[in-house]
Amino acid sequence: MKMKNEVTYSRRLLKYLMVGLLVLLGLVCLYYGTLLSSGLPSADESFDDGVDPVTGRYVLKKDFDELFDDEEHNPEVLKSIPVCDLRYSELIPCLDRNLIYQTKLKLNLSLMEHYERHCPHQDRRYNCLIPPPIGYKIPIRWPASRDQVWKANIPHTHLAKEKSDQNWMIVDGDKIKFPGGGTHFHDGADKYIMAIAGMLKFPGERLSNGGHIRNVLDVGCGVASFGAYLLPLNIIAMSLAPNDVHENQIQFALERGIPATLGVLGTKRLQYPSRSFELVHCSRCRIDWLQRDGILLLELDRLLRPGGYFVYSSPEAYSHDAENRKIWSSMYDLLRRMCWRVVVRRDQTVIWAKPLSNSCYMKRTPETLPLLCSSHDDPDATWNVIMKACITPYSASMYPF
Ligand SMILES: C[S@@+](CC[C@H](N)C(=O)[O-])C[C@H]1O[C@@H](n2cnc3c(N)ncnc32)[C@H](O)[C@@H]1O
Repeated sequence: MKMKNEVTYSRRLLKYLMVGLLVLLGLVCLYYGTLLSSGLPSADESFDDGVDPVTGRYVLKKDFDELFDDEEHNPEVLKSIPVCDLRYSELIPCLDRNLIYQTKLKLNLSLMEHYERHCPHQDRRYNCLIPPPIGYKIPIRWPASRDQVWKANIPHTHLAKEKSDQNWMIVDGDKIKFPGGGTHFHDGADKYIMAIAGMLKFPGERLSNGGHIRNVLDVGCGVASFGAYLLPLNIIAMSLAPNDVHENQIQFALERGIPATLGVLGTKRLQYPSRSFELVHCSRCRIDWLQRDGILLLELDRLLRPGGYFVYSSPEAYSHDAENRKIWSSMYDLLRRMCWRVVVRRDQTVIWAKPLSNSCYMKRTPETLPLLCSSHDDPDATWNVIMKACITPYSASMYPF
């Protein structure tokens, strides 16, 4: 009996000892945790004077504090942002066609000025959040989204009918499906991309060419299937098109998860610095490249890296009728004066390359058009910069003649 009591007593003692040890350990952790954390900045202190990683500008902490003071004391600063009326579920603020009609802006339609950005005056801004359409669903995730999106998220089926023979998209129940076709590549963008790589004799018919082609601009992209099939090749394509008769094309591209933007080759420079892309693509993009002394081709020239390619699949490159022959020879002549060379021309596609250095420009007779841009022209300035019909030469320090 005595033995049993002693065993129970020892067990209890051990239990109290264990609990005591745990409490002690907890207190030690708490003490050191407080000591260490006092060395770390608190949420309020974490912002200091320094360079803003987004804008690259130097920002003082003081300015940042003032911003919040302003929010507190200035009654005009909104405390919360209301949701817009459902009518505005597809409003794109600076690309709002209604605003152009209402404010009677005089824009040159033939230059596509109406598809460029025109931001409303302060008192015409909505200051509300764009609501999703009725029935909106969480988007299908990449990579499945390359081939299908929820119809409820972009309730527009007009392109499926209009481009039914070109395999752009198909309505299938509550989904819209993308077989990968386009105006120029009915059988799928993947085969077309391999064919381009084959034309350029890239190993394994891979357009990335071992990492030499990484950034592509697809001008007049439709629903961006060309860009979609470049992603697995480690090529990022920026797909570009305006909100024109092919309504909602960019909306589809974005819903699919493909990098795309609303834009147009019109009167202003595209918003990329010079030498941003190794390859520019246009398949049946229906752009008149000869207009205004080749100003739009000269914009592509600014955007291409030294030796960059322009892949052009359009009737002017292959049709034998008189009109297309005439356009082809004028384009060929213009691009020759711009020092571009034809790398290969096969089937319905021609591929040009821009020069690697300034040497060809220097060999031209001085009055040859297009002239070189003035040395005061900053080729990397892009915000609201009107295009000029001149060649952007390489900087002499980086690319000696
Ligand atoms: C016939 S579709 C071809 C689409 C796609 N490239 C294909 O092969 O399926 C013509 C495309 O060019 C675009 N486009 C027309 N003029 C343009 C311009 N000036 N700048 C940019 N895109 C333009 C249209 O919006 C449309 O996306």
